[in-house]
Amino acid sequence: MLQNRYIALGITGSIAAYKAADLASKLTQAGARVDVLMTEAATHFITPLTLRSLTGRQVFIDMFDPTTELAEQHVEIARRADAVIVAPASATTIARLAQGLADDVVSLTVLATEAPVLVAPAMDHQMYENAATQANLETLRQRGYTIVGPAEGRLASGRMGLGRLEETEVLIGAVKQALGRRGDLAGRRVVVSAGGTQEAIDPVRFVGNHSSGKMGYALAEAARDRGAEVTLVTAPTALACPYGVRLVSVQSAREMRDAVVAACQDADALIMAAAVADFQPGEAAEQKIRKAGKKGLTLELVPTPDILSEVRGDLVRVGFKAESRELLESARELLRRKQLDLVVANDVTAAGSGFATDTNQVTIIDASGQEEALPLLPKYDVANRVLDRVAALLRERGEAP
Ligand SMILES: Cc1cc2nc3c(=O)[nH]c(=O)nc-3n(C[C@H](O)[C@H](O)[C@H](O)COP(=O)(O)O)c2cc1C
Repeated sequence: MLQNRYIALGITGSIAAYKAADLASKLTQAGARVDVLMTEAATHFITPLTLRSLTGRQVFIDMFDPTTELAEQHVEIARRADAVIVAPASATTIARLAQGLADDVVSLTVLATEAPVLVAPAMDHQMYENAATQANLETLRQRGYTIVGPAEGRLASGRMGLGRLEETEVLIGAVKQALGRRGDLAGRRVVVSAGGTQEAIDPVRFVGNHSSGKMGYALAEAARDRGAEVTLVTAPTALACPYGVRLVSVQSAREMRDAVVAACQDADALIMAAAVADFQPGEAAEQKIRKAGKKGLTLELVPTPDILSEVRGDLVRVGFKAESRELLESARELLRRKQLDLVVANDVTAAGSGFATDTNQVTIIDASGQEEALPLLPKYDVANRVLDRVAALLRERGEAP
């Protein structure tokens, strides 16, 4: 979604300015055209040459420099930007933006743009907590700017606290959300479930499965990138929550049922990508089961709740069916039995498909029985193909956001 989009990246005089090089590089690698704007102070921390090399584009520092476009048309970068991100944003620049000044290329561009503006503060804890900085950030928030971070952790001063520039992945997530704010899921509430549930045997062991959560997280991210308000109900995974997504962490199928049912109260769509256990131990042992003196152990398993059939209302409901054999037959059966709008059939034994991979090969089956077999695709692309169908179903139902 960053392909050919114009991103204006304002870099200011913070010790975190070197991290902006990573952001500029990753945005460029994703296909964006990154116009870097630097305050004079920023050039003490990182060289314009670095940014120029990474983006392959001219870097703007002095609005009066007769060799740049800005001298001809000073608001050109502001006009062409699809999003403006100031990262890192120093306390001084935040104050300047709150005052509405336009006396350097960063503040000039922010003041002149109609694109969404993101501000990622980075400074020492005391500077961040200072009432002046807080008041300035509040002014920016009220003007509709998105304040991203700061994160908590070790600061350049050696102290711990709030003030670190957010990680590059978080900043890119925020840019994508800003770009997608008018997407075809804008104003829609989408609930996604992800990960493999863990059913306790005793306080230290569980019955689990190989789900990595990657498909569900990709769905949450892709729905966010199309403007949706996303709740991600997730069983334990090793993945970071995508920026801008509401996360609800659960462990067992029962907990997932409760969280999904609650999140679906006012949702437009539910996509169940989680690998929910079909069976759980009847009752978890209160103490750790000991091996000593036992020849074997038999577990009595009972069925888990059927989450999709417990979700009521006229929301679009999408199920995932992972199988190692007779995939399409069982996917069709699931569609009929639970009266779903879509089933995504996933052969977990195919190469590059299923658990823990970054790609997936699926067939989407709709309520009329029509089947669309997709090629092997990155999970984010699979997510978008599923969301194309969800968005179309929501449009057909004519429920205006
Ligand atoms: C070594 C050093 C590190 C600094 N780090 C920060 C910082 O992380 N955040 C910040 O707001 N200011 C920091 N400053 C102060 C700013 O560089 C200074 O306020 C400057 O005027 C900011 O100008 P600008 O907003 O136009 O870039 C630092 C200064 C020095 C000398």
